[in-house]
Amino acid sequence: MSSSSTLSKVLKIFKLCREFWGKAIVLAITLVLTSFLSAYPIKYIEKIINIATSSAQDKVKAFFLAGCVYLLLHVLNIIFRALFEYLNVYLETQIGHKIRIELFSKLQKIPYRVYVENNTSDLMVRLIEDSKITVSGMLKPLTFIIRDILIFIFGFYYMSRIDLQITLIMVPIGIVLSLQAIKTGPKINKLAEDERQANSLLWGKFSEGIKGIKEIKSYCQEKRFSEEVSKKSINMNKKILSLQKFVIITSNINSAFFMGIIAFIMIFGGYKVSIGTLSIGGLTAIMMYNGLLIDPMINFFSFYQQMQQVFVSSDKIFSILEEKEENSGEIHYKYTFENKLEIKELTFKYNDKIALKNISLNIFKGEKVAFVGYSGSGKSTLCKLLIRFYEPDKGQIIIDGYDIKNISLNNLRKIFGIVFQDTFLFTGTLRENILFSNPQATEEELNEALRIAGVDSFLEKLPFGLDTPVGENGFNLSGGERQRVSIARTILRNPDIIILDESTSSLDPITTSKVIKRIVKKYENRTIIFTAHKLTTISKLCDKIYVFKDGEIVEEGIHDELINRDTLYRKIYNAQFLKSS
Ligand SMILES: Nc1ncnc2c1ncn2[C@@H]1O[C@H](COP(=O)(O)OP(=O)(O)O)[C@@H](O)[C@H]1O
Ligand SMILES: [Mg+2]
Repeated sequence: MSSSSTLSKVLKIFKLCREFWGKAIVLAITLVLTSFLSAYPIKYIEKIINIATSSAQDKVKAFFLAGCVYLLLHVLNIIFRALFEYLNVYLETQIGHKIRIELFSKLQKIPYRVYVENNTSDLMVRLIEDSKITVSGMLKPLTFIIRDILIFIFGFYYMSRIDLQITLIMVPIGIVLSLQAIKTGPKINKLAEDERQANSLLWGKFSEGIKGIKEIKSYCQEKRFSEEVSKKSINMNKKILSLQKFVIITSNINSAFFMGIIAFIMIFGGYKVSIGTLSIGGLTAIMMYNGLLIDPMINFFSFYQQMQQVFVSSDKIFSILEEKEENSGEIHYKYTFENKLEIKELTFKYNDKIALKNISLNIFKGEKVAFVGYSGSGKSTLCKLLIRFYEPDKGQIIIDGYDIKNISLNNLRKIFGIVFQDTFLFTGTLRENILFSNPQATEEELNEALRIAGVDSFLEKLPFGLDTPVGENGFNLSGGERQRVSIARTILRNPDIIILDESTSSLDPITTSKVIKRIVKKYENRTIIFTAHKLTTISKLCDKIYVFKDGEIVEEGIHDELINRDTLYRKIYNAQFLKSS
Protein backbone atom coordinates (compact mmCIF):
# COMPACT_ATOMS: atom_id res chain seq x y z
CA MET A 1 0.00 0.00 0.00
CA SER A 2 1.48 3.32 -0.98
CA SER A 3 1.90 5.89 1.73
CA SER A 4 -0.16 8.44 -0.18
CA SER A 5 -3.19 6.18 -0.17
CA THR A 6 -2.57 5.44 3.50
CA LEU A 7 -2.55 9.14 4.18
CA SER A 8 -5.70 9.73 2.18
CA LYS A 9 -7.45 7.01 4.16
CA VAL A 10 -6.47 8.54 7.46
CA LEU A 11 -7.60 11.93 6.17
CA LYS A 12 -10.93 10.49 5.07
CA ILE A 13 -11.56 9.12 8.51
CA PHE A 14 -10.60 12.40 10.11
CA LYS A 15 -12.97 14.22 7.79
CA LEU A 16 -15.79 11.98 8.87
CA CYS A 17 -15.04 12.90 12.47
CA ARG A 18 -14.55 16.62 12.00
CA GLU A 19 -17.38 17.59 14.34
CA PHE A 20 -15.36 16.28 17.28
CA TRP A 21 -12.42 18.62 16.77
CA GLY A 22 -13.01 20.47 20.07
CA LYS A 23 -12.63 17.33 22.14
CA ALA A 24 -9.81 16.22 19.89
CA ILE A 25 -7.82 19.35 20.74
CA VAL A 26 -8.23 18.71 24.47
CA LEU A 27 -7.13 15.16 23.81
CA ALA A 28 -4.08 16.43 21.95
CA ILE A 29 -3.13 18.74 24.83
CA THR A 30 -3.38 15.97 27.43
CA LEU A 31 -1.42 13.84 25.01
CA VAL A 32 1.50 16.26 24.84
CA LEU A 33 1.47 16.87 28.59
CA THR A 34 1.42 13.22 29.56
CA SER A 35 4.20 12.44 27.08
CA PHE A 36 6.37 15.21 28.42
CA LEU A 37 5.70 14.22 32.01
CA SER A 38 6.66 10.64 31.30
CA ALA A 39 10.12 11.68 30.14
CA TYR A 40 11.06 14.77 32.08
CA PRO A 41 10.96 13.55 35.74
CA ILE A 42 13.73 11.03 35.09
CA LYS A 43 16.10 13.98 35.15
CA TYR A 44 15.41 14.25 38.90
CA ILE A 45 16.53 10.69 39.44
CA GLU A 46 19.82 11.56 37.80
CA LYS A 47 20.00 14.56 40.12
CA ILE A 48 19.29 12.58 43.30
CA ILE A 49 21.86 9.89 42.50
CA ASN A 50 24.47 12.46 41.58
CA ILE A 51 23.84 14.29 44.84
CA ALA A 52 24.13 11.02 46.74
CA THR A 53 27.45 10.12 45.14
CA SER A 54 28.86 13.65 45.47
CA SER A 55 30.61 15.18 48.43
CA ALA A 56 28.07 18.03 48.76
CA GLN A 57 26.88 19.31 52.18
CA ASP A 58 23.21 19.33 53.26
CA LYS A 59 22.27 16.39 51.04
CA VAL A 60 18.96 15.83 52.89
CA LYS A 61 17.51 19.17 51.88
CA ALA A 62 18.52 18.59 48.25
CA PHE A 63 17.05 15.04 48.31
CA PHE A 64 13.83 16.37 49.76
CA LEU A 65 13.49 19.09 47.16
CA ALA A 66 14.26 16.84 44.18
CA GLY A 67 12.00 14.13 45.59
CA CYS A 68 9.07 16.54 46.02
CA VAL A 69 9.36 17.85 42.46
CA TYR A 70 9.62 14.30 41.17
CA LEU A 71 6.46 13.31 43.05
CA LEU A 72 4.54 16.39 41.94
CA LEU A 73 5.42 15.81 38.30
CA HIS A 74 4.26 12.23 38.56
CA VAL A 75 0.96 13.14 40.14
CA LEU A 76 0.37 15.62 37.33
CA ASN A 77 1.29 12.96 34.82
CA ILE A 78 -1.25 10.57 36.29
CA ILE A 79 -3.99 13.18 36.12
CA PHE A 80 -3.30 14.02 32.49
CA ARG A 81 -2.92 10.39 31.57
CA ALA A 82 -6.31 9.51 33.09
CA LEU A 83 -7.89 12.39 31.21
CA PHE A 84 -6.20 11.29 28.02
CA GLU A 85 -7.44 7.72 28.40
CA TYR A 86 -10.97 8.80 29.20
CA LEU A 87 -11.15 11.17 26.24
CA ASN A 88 -9.95 8.36 24.05
CA VAL A 89 -12.78 6.08 25.09
CA TYR A 90 -15.25 8.92 24.88
CA LEU A 91 -14.27 9.86 21.34
CA GLU A 92 -14.15 6.25 20.33
CA THR A 93 -17.78 5.65 21.33
CA GLN A 94 -18.94 8.91 19.74
CA ILE A 95 -17.15 8.27 16.49
CA GLY A 96 -18.33 4.66 16.52
CA HIS A 97 -21.90 5.85 16.78
CA LYS A 98 -21.34 8.35 14.01
CA ILE A 99 -19.83 5.81 11.63
CA ARG A 100 -22.54 3.24 12.33
CA ILE A 101 -25.31 5.76 11.69
CA GLU A 102 -23.66 7.18 8.58
CA LEU A 103 -23.20 3.69 7.28
CA PHE A 104 -26.74 2.64 8.00
CA SER A 105 -28.40 5.71 6.55
CA LYS A 106 -26.16 5.34 3.53
CA LEU A 107 -27.27 1.72 3.19
CA GLN A 108 -30.86 2.95 3.12
CA LYS A 109 -30.09 5.35 0.31
CA ILE A 110 -28.25 3.08 -2.06
CA PRO A 111 -30.29 1.55 -4.86
CA TYR A 112 -32.32 -1.60 -4.30
CA ARG A 113 -30.27 -3.15 -7.06
CA VAL A 114 -27.14 -3.19 -4.86
CA TYR A 115 -28.97 -5.27 -2.28
CA VAL A 116 -30.11 -7.78 -4.83
CA GLU A 117 -26.64 -8.12 -6.29
CA ASN A 118 -24.73 -8.25 -3.01
CA ASN A 119 -24.65 -10.84 -0.37
CA THR A 120 -26.63 -9.31 2.52
CA SER A 121 -24.62 -11.03 5.23
CA ASP A 122 -21.56 -9.32 3.82
CA LEU A 123 -23.37 -6.01 4.29
CA MET A 124 -24.09 -7.01 7.89
CA VAL A 125 -20.42 -7.76 8.52
CA ARG A 126 -19.53 -4.34 7.21
CA LEU A 127 -22.12 -2.67 9.35
CA ILE A 128 -21.11 -4.35 12.59
CA GLU A 129 -17.60 -5.74 12.39
CA ASP A 130 -15.90 -3.32 10.05
CA SER A 131 -17.23 -0.21 11.75
CA LYS A 132 -16.05 -1.59 15.10
CA ILE A 133 -12.58 -2.41 13.80
CA THR A 134 -12.28 0.91 12.04
CA VAL A 135 -13.05 2.90 15.15
CA SER A 136 -11.43 0.90 17.90
CA GLY A 137 -8.55 -0.08 15.69
CA MET A 138 -7.94 3.41 14.45
CA LEU A 139 -8.45 6.05 17.09
CA LYS A 140 -6.88 4.38 20.10
CA PRO A 141 -3.73 3.11 18.40
CA LEU A 142 -3.43 6.42 16.62
CA THR A 143 -3.54 8.57 19.74
CA PHE A 144 -1.42 6.11 21.69
CA ILE A 145 1.15 6.06 18.95
CA ILE A 146 1.30 9.83 18.87
CA ARG A 147 1.85 9.74 22.61
CA ASP A 148 4.59 7.18 22.09
CA ILE A 149 6.26 9.27 19.43
CA LEU A 150 6.19 12.32 21.71
CA ILE A 151 7.56 10.31 24.62
CA PHE A 152 10.29 9.14 22.28
CA ILE A 153 11.12 12.68 21.20
CA PHE A 154 11.18 14.06 24.75
CA GLY A 155 13.10 11.04 26.03
CA PHE A 156 15.57 11.23 23.18
CA TYR A 157 16.17 14.90 23.83
CA TYR A 158 16.80 14.54 27.57
CA MET A 159 18.89 11.45 27.06
CA SER A 160 21.08 13.22 24.49
CA ARG A 161 21.65 16.01 27.01
CA ILE A 162 23.19 13.41 29.33
CA ASP A 163 25.29 11.60 26.72
CA LEU A 164 24.98 12.27 23.02
CA GLN A 165 27.22 9.38 21.91
CA ILE A 166 25.13 6.70 23.61
CA THR A 167 21.88 8.31 22.49
CA LEU A 168 22.93 8.30 18.84
CA ILE A 169 23.14 4.49 18.96
CA MET A 170 19.34 4.62 18.92
CA VAL A 171 19.19 6.23 15.47
CA PRO A 172 20.23 3.31 13.23
CA ILE A 173 17.90 1.06 15.20
CA GLY A 174 15.03 3.33 14.39
CA ILE A 175 15.89 3.27 10.70
CA VAL A 176 16.20 -0.53 10.56
CA LEU A 177 12.85 -0.88 12.31
CA SER A 178 11.02 1.52 10.05
CA LEU A 179 12.31 -0.26 6.97
CA GLN A 180 11.19 -3.58 8.35
CA ALA A 181 7.75 -2.24 9.21
CA ILE A 182 7.29 -0.94 5.69
CA LYS A 183 8.45 -4.23 4.21
CA THR A 184 6.09 -6.42 6.21
CA GLY A 185 3.08 -4.12 5.76
CA PRO A 186 1.71 -5.52 2.49
CA LYS A 187 1.99 -9.09 3.73
CA ILE A 188 -0.04 -8.24 6.82
CA ASN A 189 -2.55 -6.41 4.69
CA LYS A 190 -3.05 -9.51 2.59
CA LEU A 191 -3.38 -11.79 5.64
CA ALA A 192 -5.90 -9.41 7.21
CA GLU A 193 -7.98 -9.35 4.04
CA ASP A 194 -8.01 -13.17 4.01
CA GLU A 195 -9.14 -13.24 7.59
CA ARG A 196 -11.92 -10.79 6.92
CA GLN A 197 -13.16 -12.77 3.97
CA ALA A 198 -13.20 -15.98 5.99
CA ASN A 199 -15.14 -14.16 8.69
CA SER A 200 -17.69 -12.93 6.17
CA LEU A 201 -18.16 -16.45 4.78
CA LEU A 202 -18.79 -17.80 8.27
CA TRP A 203 -21.37 -15.09 8.93
CA GLY A 204 -23.06 -15.90 5.66
CA LYS A 205 -23.39 -19.57 6.61
CA PHE A 206 -24.67 -18.69 10.07
CA SER A 207 -27.33 -16.42 8.70
CA GLU A 208 -28.39 -18.98 6.08
CA GLY A 209 -28.61 -21.61 8.78
CA ILE A 210 -31.07 -19.47 10.67
CA LYS A 211 -33.10 -18.08 7.78
CA GLY A 212 -33.25 -21.45 6.05
CA ILE A 213 -34.15 -23.45 9.15
CA LYS A 214 -37.46 -24.62 7.61
CA GLU A 215 -35.71 -26.21 4.65
CA ILE A 216 -32.83 -27.56 6.75
CA LYS A 217 -35.14 -29.30 9.16
CA SER A 218 -37.61 -30.63 6.60
CA TYR A 219 -34.83 -32.14 4.50
CA CYS A 220 -32.96 -33.38 7.61
CA GLN A 221 -29.82 -31.46 6.68
CA GLU A 222 -28.90 -30.29 10.19
CA LYS A 223 -25.76 -32.39 10.38
CA ARG A 224 -24.47 -31.37 6.98
CA PHE A 225 -25.14 -27.73 7.71
CA SER A 226 -23.34 -27.92 11.05
CA GLU A 227 -20.40 -29.50 9.28
CA GLU A 228 -20.31 -26.72 6.73
CA VAL A 229 -20.40 -24.10 9.47
CA SER A 230 -17.64 -25.96 11.27
CA LYS A 231 -15.54 -25.99 8.10
CA LYS A 232 -15.97 -22.26 7.65
CA SER A 233 -15.17 -21.69 11.31
CA ILE A 234 -12.00 -23.78 11.10
CA ASN A 235 -11.03 -21.92 7.96
CA MET A 236 -11.43 -18.62 9.78
CA ASN A 237 -9.29 -19.89 12.66
CA LYS A 238 -6.58 -20.84 10.20
CA LYS A 239 -6.57 -17.34 8.76
CA ILE A 240 -6.49 -15.76 12.22
CA LEU A 241 -3.60 -18.00 13.21
CA SER A 242 -1.53 -17.28 10.14
CA LEU A 243 -2.01 -13.55 10.62
CA GLN A 244 -1.18 -13.68 14.30
CA LYS A 245 1.78 -16.00 13.76
CA PHE A 246 3.30 -13.52 11.37
CA VAL A 247 2.65 -10.62 13.72
CA ILE A 248 4.07 -12.46 16.76
CA ILE A 249 7.20 -13.62 14.96
CA THR A 250 8.08 -10.26 13.45
CA SER A 251 7.41 -8.29 16.63
CA ASN A 252 9.42 -10.67 18.80
CA ILE A 253 12.39 -10.63 16.49
CA ASN A 254 12.30 -6.88 17.02
CA SER A 255 12.15 -7.23 20.79
CA ALA A 256 15.20 -9.48 20.78
CA PHE A 257 17.01 -6.92 18.67
CA PHE A 258 16.16 -4.20 21.21
CA MET A 259 17.34 -6.23 24.16
CA GLY A 260 20.69 -6.68 22.48
CA ILE A 261 20.98 -2.95 22.05
CA ILE A 262 20.16 -2.34 25.70
CA ALA A 263 22.82 -4.78 26.79
CA PHE A 264 25.30 -2.99 24.57
CA ILE A 265 24.38 0.41 26.02
CA MET A 266 24.74 -0.98 29.53
CA ILE A 267 28.27 -2.23 28.85
CA PHE A 268 29.30 0.88 26.96
CA GLY A 269 27.80 3.13 29.69
CA GLY A 270 29.55 1.20 32.44
CA TYR A 271 32.84 1.65 30.62
CA LYS A 272 32.20 5.40 30.33
CA VAL A 273 31.51 5.65 34.08
CA SER A 274 34.73 3.79 34.85
CA ILE A 275 36.82 6.19 32.78
CA GLY A 276 34.96 9.15 34.32
CA THR A 277 33.15 10.55 31.25
CA LEU A 278 29.68 9.72 32.62
CA SER A 279 28.25 10.13 36.14
CA ILE A 280 26.55 7.24 37.94
CA GLY A 281 23.33 9.28 38.02
CA GLY A 282 23.72 9.83 34.27
CA LEU A 283 24.07 6.10 33.60
CA THR A 284 21.03 5.32 35.75
CA ALA A 285 18.97 7.95 33.94
CA ILE A 286 20.15 6.63 30.56
CA MET A 287 19.06 3.13 31.52
CA MET A 288 15.68 4.50 32.53
CA TYR A 289 15.35 6.46 29.31
CA ASN A 290 16.25 3.32 27.43
CA GLY A 291 13.34 1.54 29.05
CA LEU A 292 11.12 4.49 28.25
CA LEU A 293 12.16 4.59 24.59
CA ILE A 294 11.92 0.87 23.89
CA ASP A 295 8.15 0.69 24.34
CA PRO A 296 7.38 3.44 21.85
CA MET A 297 9.61 1.80 19.26
CA ILE A 298 8.00 -1.59 19.66
CA ASN A 299 4.56 -0.03 19.72
CA PHE A 300 5.29 1.90 16.60
CA PHE A 301 6.10 -1.28 14.80
CA SER A 302 2.99 -3.10 15.95
CA PHE A 303 0.95 0.01 15.30
CA TYR A 304 1.96 -0.08 11.69
CA GLN A 305 0.94 -3.72 11.49
CA GLN A 306 -2.35 -3.05 13.19
CA MET A 307 -3.13 -0.19 10.84
CA GLN A 308 -2.85 -2.54 7.88
CA GLN A 309 -5.68 -4.59 9.38
CA VAL A 310 -7.73 -1.50 10.07
CA PHE A 311 -7.33 -0.28 6.51
CA VAL A 312 -8.81 -3.49 5.18
CA SER A 313 -11.95 -2.81 7.20
CA SER A 314 -12.06 0.91 6.57
CA ASP A 315 -11.77 0.24 2.83
CA LYS A 316 -14.92 -1.83 3.00
CA ILE A 317 -16.70 0.91 4.88
CA PHE A 318 -15.66 3.61 2.47
CA SER A 319 -16.67 1.48 -0.46
CA ILE A 320 -20.19 1.69 0.96
CA LEU A 321 -19.97 5.35 1.91
CA GLU A 322 -18.82 6.13 -1.62
CA GLU A 323 -21.46 3.97 -3.26
CA LYS A 324 -23.69 6.01 -5.55
CA GLU A 325 -26.99 6.90 -3.95
CA GLU A 326 -30.31 6.49 -5.66
CA ASN A 327 -30.59 9.30 -8.12
CA SER A 328 -33.49 11.12 -6.58
CA GLY A 329 -34.36 13.29 -9.59
CA GLU A 330 -35.54 16.43 -7.83
CA ILE A 331 -36.56 18.30 -10.95
CA HIS A 332 -40.32 17.93 -10.56
CA TYR A 333 -42.51 17.73 -7.55
CA LYS A 334 -45.54 15.70 -8.24
CA TYR A 335 -47.77 14.14 -5.63
CA THR A 336 -50.77 13.07 -7.62
CA PHE A 337 -51.67 11.09 -10.68
CA GLU A 338 -54.04 13.08 -12.87
CA ASN A 339 -54.30 11.57 -16.28
CA LYS A 340 -51.95 9.20 -18.05
CA LEU A 341 -49.18 6.72 -17.21
CA GLU A 342 -47.19 6.04 -20.36
CA ILE A 343 -44.67 3.27 -20.83
CA LYS A 344 -42.71 3.89 -24.00
CA GLU A 345 -40.53 1.30 -25.75
CA LEU A 346 -39.14 0.09 -22.46
CA THR A 347 -36.29 -2.39 -22.42
CA PHE A 348 -34.61 -3.68 -19.29
CA LYS A 349 -31.81 -6.15 -18.60
CA TYR A 350 -30.64 -7.85 -15.41
CA ASN A 351 -26.91 -7.83 -15.96
CA ASP A 352 -26.97 -9.12 -19.50
CA LYS A 353 -30.21 -11.03 -19.41
CA ILE A 354 -33.14 -9.31 -21.09
CA ALA A 355 -36.17 -9.19 -18.78
CA LEU A 356 -38.36 -6.67 -20.62
CA LYS A 357 -38.33 -6.07 -24.34
CA ASN A 358 -39.77 -3.01 -26.00
CA ILE A 359 -42.81 -2.62 -23.77
CA SER A 360 -45.23 0.15 -24.72
CA LEU A 361 -48.56 0.79 -23.06
CA ASN A 362 -50.77 3.53 -21.65
CA ILE A 363 -52.76 3.40 -18.46
CA PHE A 364 -55.32 6.13 -17.74
CA LYS A 365 -56.54 7.39 -14.45
CA GLY A 366 -59.25 5.17 -12.97
CA GLU A 367 -58.43 2.16 -15.14
CA LYS A 368 -58.08 -1.34 -13.75
CA VAL A 369 -55.31 -3.12 -15.61
CA ALA A 370 -53.91 -6.64 -15.41
CA PHE A 371 -50.46 -7.94 -16.36
CA VAL A 372 -50.81 -11.67 -16.84
CA GLY A 373 -48.46 -14.37 -18.06
CA TYR A 374 -46.41 -17.32 -16.89
CA SER A 375 -44.12 -16.76 -13.98
CA GLY A 376 -40.79 -15.39 -15.09
CA SER A 377 -42.37 -13.42 -17.92
CA GLY A 378 -41.38 -10.03 -16.49
CA LYS A 379 -44.48 -8.77 -14.67
CA SER A 380 -42.83 -8.05 -11.32
CA THR A 381 -39.85 -6.50 -13.07
CA LEU A 382 -42.11 -3.97 -14.76
CA CYS A 383 -43.74 -3.14 -11.40
CA LYS A 384 -40.31 -2.52 -9.88
CA LEU A 385 -39.37 -0.23 -12.73
CA LEU A 386 -42.52 1.81 -12.13
CA ILE A 387 -41.32 2.71 -8.63
CA ARG A 388 -37.72 3.06 -9.84
CA PHE A 389 -36.18 0.14 -7.99
CA TYR A 390 -34.37 -0.25 -11.29
CA GLU A 391 -33.72 2.18 -14.12
CA PRO A 392 -34.69 1.21 -17.68
CA ASP A 393 -31.94 0.45 -20.18
CA LYS A 394 -34.01 1.96 -22.98
CA GLY A 395 -37.29 3.78 -23.17
CA GLN A 396 -39.23 5.86 -20.70
CA ILE A 397 -41.93 5.76 -18.10
CA ILE A 398 -43.94 8.98 -18.13
CA ILE A 399 -46.52 10.16 -15.61
CA ASP A 400 -48.72 13.05 -16.77
CA GLY A 401 -45.98 14.17 -19.11
CA TYR A 402 -43.06 13.90 -16.64
CA ASP A 403 -40.42 11.25 -17.08
CA ILE A 404 -40.34 9.45 -13.70
CA LYS A 405 -36.58 9.77 -13.53
CA ASN A 406 -37.11 13.49 -12.99
CA ILE A 407 -39.73 13.12 -10.29
CA SER A 408 -38.34 13.14 -6.78
CA LEU A 409 -38.25 9.57 -5.49
CA ASN A 410 -40.19 10.40 -2.35
CA ASN A 411 -42.99 11.86 -4.41
CA LEU A 412 -42.99 9.08 -6.95
CA ARG A 413 -43.26 6.48 -4.22
CA LYS A 414 -46.17 8.41 -2.73
CA ILE A 415 -48.10 8.13 -5.98
CA PHE A 416 -47.65 4.36 -6.11
CA GLY A 417 -48.61 1.87 -3.43
CA ILE A 418 -47.24 -1.57 -4.13
CA VAL A 419 -48.05 -4.86 -2.48
CA PHE A 420 -45.11 -7.10 -3.24
CA GLN A 421 -45.30 -10.71 -4.14
CA ASP A 422 -42.94 -11.55 -1.28
CA THR A 423 -43.93 -9.16 1.44
CA PHE A 424 -41.89 -8.53 4.56
CA LEU A 425 -43.30 -8.06 8.05
CA PHE A 426 -41.26 -6.41 10.76
CA THR A 427 -40.87 -7.65 14.30
CA GLY A 428 -43.62 -5.94 16.30
CA THR A 429 -47.38 -6.12 16.59
CA LEU A 430 -49.82 -6.51 13.75
CA ARG A 431 -50.98 -2.94 14.34
CA GLU A 432 -47.44 -1.58 14.07
CA ASN A 433 -46.93 -3.51 10.86
CA ILE A 434 -50.04 -2.11 9.23
CA LEU A 435 -49.43 1.43 10.48
CA PHE A 436 -45.89 1.18 9.10
CA SER A 437 -46.98 2.80 5.85
CA ASN A 438 -48.81 5.64 7.58
CA PRO A 439 -48.20 6.02 11.32
CA GLN A 440 -50.60 8.99 11.50
CA ALA A 441 -53.64 7.08 10.25
CA THR A 442 -56.79 7.38 12.36
CA GLU A 443 -58.53 4.42 13.99
CA GLU A 444 -61.30 4.75 11.39
CA GLU A 445 -58.91 4.59 8.47
CA LEU A 446 -57.21 1.63 10.06
CA ASN A 447 -60.48 -0.23 10.52
CA GLU A 448 -61.47 0.41 6.94
CA ALA A 449 -58.14 -0.92 5.65
CA LEU A 450 -58.56 -4.00 7.85
CA ARG A 451 -62.02 -4.60 6.48
CA ILE A 452 -61.09 -4.14 2.81
CA ALA A 453 -58.00 -6.34 3.01
CA GLY A 454 -59.93 -9.00 4.94
CA VAL A 455 -57.64 -8.83 7.95
CA ASP A 456 -60.68 -8.50 10.22
CA SER A 457 -61.77 -12.03 9.35
CA PHE A 458 -58.78 -13.63 11.09
CA LEU A 459 -58.28 -11.02 13.76
CA GLU A 460 -60.60 -12.69 16.27
CA LYS A 461 -58.57 -15.88 16.11
CA LEU A 462 -55.44 -14.07 17.27
CA PRO A 463 -54.83 -14.02 21.03
CA PHE A 464 -54.42 -10.26 21.32
CA GLY A 465 -56.16 -9.15 18.13
CA LEU A 466 -54.32 -6.25 16.49
CA ASP A 467 -51.81 -6.18 19.31
CA THR A 468 -50.61 -9.71 18.67
CA PRO A 469 -46.88 -9.70 18.09
CA VAL A 470 -45.83 -11.13 14.77
CA GLY A 471 -42.46 -12.87 14.82
CA GLU A 472 -39.67 -11.81 12.49
CA ASN A 473 -41.13 -11.65 8.99
CA GLY A 474 -44.51 -12.77 10.31
CA PHE A 475 -43.36 -16.25 11.31
CA ASN A 476 -46.59 -16.93 13.17
CA LEU A 477 -48.97 -15.91 10.37
CA SER A 478 -49.99 -17.99 7.37
CA GLY A 479 -48.95 -16.92 3.87
CA GLY A 480 -52.46 -15.71 3.08
CA GLU A 481 -52.68 -13.80 6.35
CA ARG A 482 -49.37 -12.11 5.68
CA GLN A 483 -50.58 -11.08 2.23
CA ARG A 484 -53.73 -9.54 3.70
CA VAL A 485 -51.68 -7.60 6.27
CA SER A 486 -49.57 -6.32 3.44
CA ILE A 487 -52.62 -5.26 1.41
CA ALA A 488 -54.02 -3.41 4.44
CA ARG A 489 -50.69 -1.67 4.84
CA THR A 490 -50.80 -0.40 1.26
CA ILE A 491 -54.45 0.67 1.46
CA LEU A 492 -53.67 2.71 4.55
CA ARG A 493 -51.12 4.62 2.53
CA ASN A 494 -53.94 5.78 0.25
CA PRO A 495 -51.93 5.86 -3.00
CA ASP A 496 -53.17 7.11 -6.38
CA ILE A 497 -51.98 4.01 -8.21
CA ILE A 498 -52.17 0.65 -6.49
CA ILE A 499 -50.03 -2.21 -7.69
CA LEU A 500 -51.01 -5.65 -6.47
CA ASP A 501 -48.20 -7.98 -7.54
CA GLU A 502 -49.59 -11.50 -7.13
CA SER A 503 -50.74 -10.27 -3.79
CA THR A 504 -53.57 -12.71 -3.35
CA SER A 505 -51.66 -15.74 -4.61
CA SER A 506 -51.84 -17.49 -1.24
CA LEU A 507 -55.53 -16.79 -0.68
CA ASP A 508 -58.35 -19.17 -1.55
CA PRO A 509 -60.49 -18.16 -4.58
CA ILE A 510 -63.46 -17.06 -2.49
CA THR A 511 -61.45 -14.79 -0.19
CA THR A 512 -59.50 -13.48 -3.18
CA SER A 513 -62.68 -12.56 -4.95
CA LYS A 514 -64.08 -10.78 -1.90
CA VAL A 515 -60.88 -8.82 -1.25
CA ILE A 516 -60.48 -7.78 -4.88
CA LYS A 517 -64.09 -6.68 -5.18
CA ARG A 518 -63.79 -4.55 -2.06
CA ILE A 519 -60.59 -2.94 -3.32
CA VAL A 520 -62.09 -2.19 -6.72
CA LYS A 521 -65.19 -0.72 -5.11
CA LYS A 522 -63.20 1.46 -2.74
CA TYR A 523 -60.91 2.69 -5.50
CA GLU A 524 -63.49 3.08 -8.22
CA ASN A 525 -61.84 6.26 -9.46
CA ARG A 526 -58.26 5.24 -8.93
CA THR A 527 -55.88 3.21 -10.96
CA ILE A 528 -55.12 -0.39 -10.04
CA ILE A 529 -52.55 -2.65 -11.65
CA PHE A 530 -52.88 -6.37 -10.94
CA THR A 531 -50.36 -8.97 -11.86
CA ALA A 532 -51.20 -12.64 -11.89
CA HIS A 533 -50.10 -15.92 -13.32
CA LYS A 534 -53.36 -17.47 -12.13
CA LEU A 535 -56.42 -15.98 -13.77
CA THR A 536 -59.18 -15.50 -11.28
CA THR A 537 -61.91 -12.98 -10.71
CA ILE A 538 -59.39 -10.26 -11.42
CA SER A 539 -59.12 -10.48 -15.17
CA LYS A 540 -62.87 -10.24 -15.78
CA LEU A 541 -62.98 -6.99 -13.82
CA CYS A 542 -60.22 -5.32 -15.77
CA ASP A 543 -60.49 -2.63 -18.41
CA LYS A 544 -57.39 -3.91 -20.12
CA ILE A 545 -55.30 -7.06 -19.94
CA TYR A 546 -51.70 -7.29 -21.11
CA VAL A 547 -50.35 -10.77 -21.67
CA PHE A 548 -46.59 -11.13 -21.04
CA LYS A 549 -44.38 -13.78 -22.57
CA ASP A 550 -40.59 -13.81 -22.15
CA GLY A 551 -40.49 -10.10 -21.35
CA GLU A 552 -42.72 -9.02 -24.21
CA ILE A 553 -46.37 -8.10 -24.44
CA VAL A 554 -47.82 -10.62 -26.85
CA GLU A 555 -51.54 -9.90 -26.49
CA GLU A 556 -53.73 -7.15 -25.17
CA GLY A 557 -57.47 -6.61 -24.81
CA ILE A 558 -60.35 -7.30 -22.44
CA HIS A 559 -61.29 -10.71 -21.11
CA ASP A 560 -64.20 -11.29 -23.50
CA GLU A 561 -62.08 -10.55 -26.57
CA LEU A 562 -59.08 -12.57 -25.50
CA ILE A 563 -61.02 -15.62 -24.41
CA ASN A 564 -62.82 -15.93 -27.73
CA ARG A 565 -59.68 -16.11 -29.84
CA ASP A 566 -56.92 -18.66 -29.96
CA THR A 567 -54.72 -16.81 -27.49
CA LEU A 568 -52.09 -17.56 -24.88
CA TYR A 569 -54.54 -15.93 -22.51
CA ARG A 570 -57.18 -18.52 -23.34
CA LYS A 571 -54.63 -21.28 -22.89
CA ILE A 572 -53.69 -20.06 -19.42
CA TYR A 573 -57.31 -19.43 -18.53
CA ASN A 574 -58.49 -22.87 -19.62
CA ALA A 575 -55.63 -24.66 -17.88
CA GLN A 576 -56.63 -22.85 -14.75
CA PHE A 577 -60.30 -23.49 -15.22
CA LEU A 578 -59.88 -27.18 -15.90
CA LYS A 579 -57.63 -27.55 -12.89
CA SER A 580 -59.94 -25.80 -10.49
CA SER A 581 -63.13 -27.51 -11.68
N1 LIG B 1 -32.72 -9.75 -9.42
C1 LIG B 1 -32.70 -10.44 -10.55
N2 LIG B 1 -31.53 -10.71 -11.16
C2 LIG B 1 -31.51 -11.39 -12.31
N3 LIG B 1 -32.59 -11.87 -12.95
C3 LIG B 1 -33.79 -11.64 -12.38
C4 LIG B 1 -33.92 -10.92 -11.16
N4 LIG B 1 -35.22 -10.85 -10.85
C5 LIG B 1 -35.89 -11.48 -11.83
N5 LIG B 1 -35.04 -11.96 -12.75
C6 LIG B 1 -35.39 -12.68 -13.98
O1 LIG B 1 -36.16 -11.83 -14.79
C7 LIG B 1 -37.23 -12.53 -15.40
C8 LIG B 1 -38.56 -11.89 -15.05
O2 LIG B 1 -38.81 -12.05 -13.67
P1 LIG B 1 -40.09 -11.46 -12.96
O3 LIG B 1 -40.29 -10.08 -13.41
O4 LIG B 1 -39.96 -11.69 -11.52
O5 LIG B 1 -41.23 -12.39 -13.56
P2 LIG B 1 -42.73 -12.56 -13.10
O6 LIG B 1 -43.05 -11.54 -12.09
O7 LIG B 1 -43.50 -12.42 -14.36
O8 LIG B 1 -42.85 -13.94 -12.57
C9 LIG B 1 -37.12 -13.96 -14.92
O9 LIG B 1 -36.48 -14.71 -15.92
C10 LIG B 1 -36.26 -13.89 -13.69
O10 LIG B 1 -35.48 -15.03 -13.56
MG1 LIG C 1 -43.68 -11.84 -10.20
